Amino acid sequence: MKKKYLIANWKMYKTVQEATHFMEALLPQLKAIDGPELVLGIAPSFVHLPTIGALIGDKKSISPLSNSIQLVAQNCHHEAAGAFTGEVSAGILASIGVGGVLIGHSERRSYQKEDNLLLAKKIKRVLENGMQPFLCCGESLEARKSGSHQAVVQQQLQESLAGLTSKEIEKLAIAYEPVWAIGTGQVAGLDVITEMHTFIRKFLSDQCVSEKVPILYGGSCNPQNVKAIFNCPNVAGGLIGSASLQVDQFMKIVMALLE
Ligand code: 13P
Repeated sequence: MKKKYLIANWKMYKTVQEATHFMEALLPQLKAIDGPELVLGIAPSFVHLPTIGALIGDKKSISPLSNSIQLVAQNCHHEAAGAFTGEVSAGILASIGVGGVLIGHSERRSYQKEDNLLLAKKIKRVLENGMQPFLCCGESLEARKSGSHQAVVQQQLQESLAGLTSKEIEKLAIAYEPVWAIGTGQVAGLDVITEMHTFIRKFLSDQCVSEKVPILYGGSCNPQNVKAIFNCPNVAGGLIGSASLQVDQFMKIVMALLE
């Protein structure tokens, strides 16, 4: 059975107190489920990473899922170190126990003008530091309407993965998040999800990359729609935004993935 992934992307939400309460409510509930094949990632603000890491690190409270909870950062800088005030390097993240890093979320592509070439550098830094990059890709509404969605995603993957061997690419996870579905309540149709996940899988196989590389879907997932999404071919799980902010909603999504 292939591993399943669920990553909570908290974006710029939650104070440290709220983040702590969430984890204190979540961890005991995970105890009750039997899911060694589940990788559950929490991507809080940078500031909360050590706090969440310490809560996750208390194995007694979260057994038997403790090995499957991953501390995930929402971003990192593309240089190893240097005079970059306000930035956080991959090495700094690895030094506090971060296991994965979101790369190229559409909000960063759009607001921070991150392009594929910059993302390629970030991926290398994350890999150098032994962490898993979660590379986000996805087309805008304009691209979908004009029919260029596959070309856009192909270019994102090609340019961000340039220079990596297939063995290196196998350390990544890919998240397909169409821009028009993020935070809009307009989840992609199952036909679109199937089309794009199959397309991304084919792209990866053409690079001789193993089927083990997980492809996650993100964009307006909620407890009502995830079961059908998780049943689509080549969907290994989800990258969840707003529905990951409330423990009860998030647990419903966890259970839907494991059903
Ligand atoms: P929403 O689930 O709020 O649409 O956000 C998705 C997302 O951006 C996850 O990275």
